[in-house]
Amino acid sequence: MRLPAVRTPLRAALPLLLGCCLSCSGGAGAVPSALPGFPAGVPGAGDRLFPRAGNGGYDVTHYGLDLRYDPGPGELTGTARISATATADLGRLDLDLAGLTVHRVAVDGKPAGQGRDGTELVVRPPRPITRGARFEITVRYSGVPKLLTDPDGSHEGWFRTGDGAVALGEPVGSMAWFPGNDHPSDKATYDITVSVPAGLTVVSNGELAGRSSAGGRTAFHWRTTEPMATYLATVAIGHYTVTRSRTPGGLPLYVAVDPRSDDPGTAAALRRIPEILAWESGVFGPYPFASAGAIVARLPTGRGGYALETQNRPVFPGDDGPPAVAVGTLVHELSHQWFGDWTTPADWQDIWLNEGFATYAEWLWQQHEGGRSVARSAASAFADPADWAFPPASPTAAHLFDAPVYDRGALVLYELHRALGDRAFATLLRTWPAAHRGGNASTAEFTAFCAHLTGKDLTPLFATWLYGKAKPARL
Ligand code: ARG
Ligand code: ZN
Repeated sequence: MRLPAVRTPLRAALPLLLGCCLSCSGGAGAVPSALPGFPAGVPGAGDRLFPRAGNGGYDVTHYGLDLRYDPGPGELTGTARISATATADLGRLDLDLAGLTVHRVAVDGKPAGQGRDGTELVVRPPRPITRGARFEITVRYSGVPKLLTDPDGSHEGWFRTGDGAVALGEPVGSMAWFPGNDHPSDKATYDITVSVPAGLTVVSNGELAGRSSAGGRTAFHWRTTEPMATYLATVAIGHYTVTRSRTPGGLPLYVAVDPRSDDPGTAAALRRIPEILAWESGVFGPYPFASAGAIVARLPTGRGGYALETQNRPVFPGDDGPPAVAVGTLVHELSHQWFGDWTTPADWQDIWLNEGFATYAEWLWQQHEGGRSVARSAASAFADPADWAFPPASPTAAHLFDAPVYDRGALVLYELHRALGDRAFATLLRTWPAAHRGGNASTAEFTAFCAHLTGKDLTPLFATWLYGKAKPARL
């Protein structure tokens, strides 16, 4: 989204001279050159922590994913139709894709050249794409999708579950199951259709737009009409007990639980979704999406271990022992629908805007429930040495989900409450999520928003709590 392209395609010149053909199919040395006289799109979106995540030169507006999955062999076969607008002249462009085999790439229906370079799928269109033009890339691919290991040692991408699979993509795991512009700065709408053997269920983001059965298979079509970052896209395939209902306000809920994780504590927690959403809407403003829910899945033991705020319906790992879903975690993941899913970080270094707010939401909820006060949560975060390893505004890729991002991030909000007072702080919590209307926001935009809201000089507060290395003497 909105990134200046462009890099002169020096290293790309040679294959053209050697006559690299339109259907070169990947492997070392097979990356196609840019069309003569036109620049190659940049192979990264400019992220400070994940330089090769996403790409420059175009903005995706829609993903149409037509997939088929067979849990036995673990084989995924698919066609991705990616609608985009060029933000620069393009003689070549990159998509992100980790593993899998690409069979055919077309641009606007015409065969395109393609090659692989690490997690870049390099595409040479049959003719140059000019800045401002809309175009569609079609990618046919198949293979056994990978489980990826993150710089922090955790896993993401494609988790096989015994009877199916679950896709989790934060920060850069969506490229394990579909080609795309895998960076939060490029949000898009989605149609995700997955065909599976009859008897299995597919749950994804957005709303279920259709379901059809033929030849011993069932295809589930999920549609996401609000912009979504790639890392929030999910599919959960397997045996699920599905409960469809509505909140008292009429919001459709779709909750899918792996029967093996259907313990009484989890069922009791999930029944509180309407109440939690109503409370969060009161504090953070109207719920931003057309439906909500949850997915409780069995991730392979030792490989999952975290919940993820996948858009509309977060995924919870159901294999850690009962309850599979705790109310505090539910509050956290649902609050991400405002903080992360609706207003999305512009760069992975802004991750505290997600996790600091979601942690603060948990603190507020505990207080609301008559449990620990926000002041006591803040005091305990302040006292924990783990929270002071680095400032919330400058995590590294290996520490993206560490305590300073969560707890020190929440302490920034605690300090803002003190500085702003009750009224202005309540306004901040209600207006910030909507300020970017489903787009992206950076830390700098957040601090500017706070300053604008209050007219106060908050520079010292942010210097200490958000950017400062040293632990202040007291809370
Ligand atoms: N955003 C998740 C949360 O709600 C955590 C995701 C962790 N991801 C990872 N690859 N370790 O806190
Ligand atoms: Zn979180």
